[in-house]
Amino acid sequence: MALRFRKVTGKNYHECIALEVREDQADCFYFKSPKPNMMSMAEAYVFGSGSQVLAIYEGGTMVDALFYVPDIKKGRAWLTRLMIDKRYQGRGYGRKAMGMLVRRVKREGARRLGLSYEPHNKAAEALYTSMGFRPGRKNEAGQIVAWLDL
Ligand SMILES: CC(C)(COP(=O)(O)OP(=O)(O)OC[C@H]1O[C@@H](n2cnc3c(N)ncnc32)[C@H](O)[C@@H]1OP(=O)(O)O)[C@@H](O)C(=O)NCCC(=O)NCCS
Repeated sequence: MALRFRKVTGKNYHECIALEVREDQADCFYFKSPKPNMMSMAEAYVFGSGSQVLAIYEGGTMVDALFYVPDIKKGRAWLTRLMIDKRYQGRGYGRKAMGMLVRRVKREGARRLGLSYEPHNKAAEALYTSMGFRPGRKNEAGQIVAWLDL
């Protein structure tokens, strides 16, 4: 399985916003939508200082996307969002994409990678803790914040 990241452009934008999680996973996102990519891109545009939007491909198939903000001056990066389309979950793509992100932000100069997830999101928790992320305090939105030392 050869995964790679590609930028989201005018050519694959529609494909990206059409991707979706299962209905019961909509509450993994604070705005509770099974199709979060349009909102994630809007947030990256409005709030993201240097926010990166990366589509995740296996061959010619976009299996979904992740969003992160490098803050290299502070030696860290923040994963804003990760999702794998409902058709492609459970095949190792999430784990592999996270491994690729870790290597990427390390190359970019980050020494820590942070993220947050809903307390009930056991799949995300299992994935992140198995990679070495250490869960800590909750943020203002009630999500658990976790950091990985790189
Ligand atoms: C969380 C998510 C990204 C995982 O992606 P995925 O490609 O399905 O996951 P993988 O197949 O790579 O599995 C990686 C690990 O995730 C965990 N996991 C995945 N699905 C799970 C499930 N249904 N229940 C419990 N753990 C699960 C396991 O620890 C798994 O490790 P394993 O392969 O050793 O069993 C995906 O389920 C998703 O998009 N969920 C909805 C959005 C979301 O929760 N995003 C993260 C919010 S911060």
